[in-house]
Amino acid sequence: MSASKLKGLVAVVTGAASGLGKATATRFVNQGAKVVLVDLSTSKGQDVASSLGKNCVFQPADVTSENDVREVMACAESKFGGLNVAVNCAGIGIAVKTYHPKKGPHPLDQFSKVLQVNTVGSFNVMRLSTELMMKRPCGELEERGVLINTASVAAYDGQIGQAAYSASKGAIVGMTLPIARDLASCKIRVCTIAPGLFDTPLLASLPEKVRKFLCDTVPFPPRLGYPYEYAHMCQSIVENEYMNGEVIRIDGSLRMMP
Ligand SMILES: NC(=O)c1ccc[n+]([C@@H]2O[C@H](COP(=O)([O-])OP(=O)(O)OC[C@H]3O[C@@H](n4cnc5c(N)ncnc54)[C@H](O)[C@@H]3O)[C@@H](O)[C@H]2O)c1
Repeated sequence: MSASKLKGLVAVVTGAASGLGKATATRFVNQGAKVVLVDLSTSKGQDVASSLGKNCVFQPADVTSENDVREVMACAESKFGGLNVAVNCAGIGIAVKTYHPKKGPHPLDQFSKVLQVNTVGSFNVMRLSTELMMKRPCGELEERGVLINTASVAAYDGQIGQAAYSASKGAIVGMTLPIARDLASCKIRVCTIAPGLFDTPLLASLPEKVRKFLCDTVPFPPRLGYPYEYAHMCQSIVENEYMNGEVIRIDGSLRMMP
């Protein structure tokens, strides 16, 4: 079996202090990549980076900030010499109904905040990653880089209270193809993963009864996804040069009902 294509690549992973981002950063480092871990300054990003060794560095950043993300790119360039892969895992979710008989209409600032972090944040990272990737000369048949986003099955099967979250993830699904087309001439591929239910700190905090209920909704395998399975999908996208402009569900064939 040939060595992992990740060996020697430089990657930026956002949301890397926890859950899917942490699993991805860990897998990439273990496969020989150099990784800039990005997360909020209040996160455990530094602890994660320290545990992974010298081939990674933590760069605190809010993905919605142009300055912060420019500093992430400066870090990738100065520490590791450029950028080949960016994985967007930073994200937030809320559960608020469009209208609640007692609480009134959905607060607009909460709706905007979810779109700002999940959609605008992902786009911010993609556009500035592209700028850095473009600094690297690239042969005629070579690819320059890969951008990977994280949507959700909620982009398709949003539940009660998920108007903001589903809108933010639907937007990520919607921009995948046009950005892949925009960046084709730059030799940069763009893919999005739409995870089902994964066993991250987000779901770990739920009562066992609720976790069991959720597991029972997944046809096969009837369990939550392991974060390393998401990370494996990221690696597969990087390694498969013909994968572009596509959204891939990874969900045990879960289709959520209302
Ligand atoms: N866990 C699941 O079942 C599941 C399912 C579908 C989609 N997703 C998506 O996968 C992604 C990762 O989810 P997770 O379960 O690992 O969640 P998580 O909460 O464990 O990790 C998300 C990370 O993003 C960081 N973050 C939040 N806002 C940020 C910002 N503005 N700038 C930088 N970092 C920020 C958080 O600090 C956190 O470390 C999210 O986009 C989420 O919507 C998760």
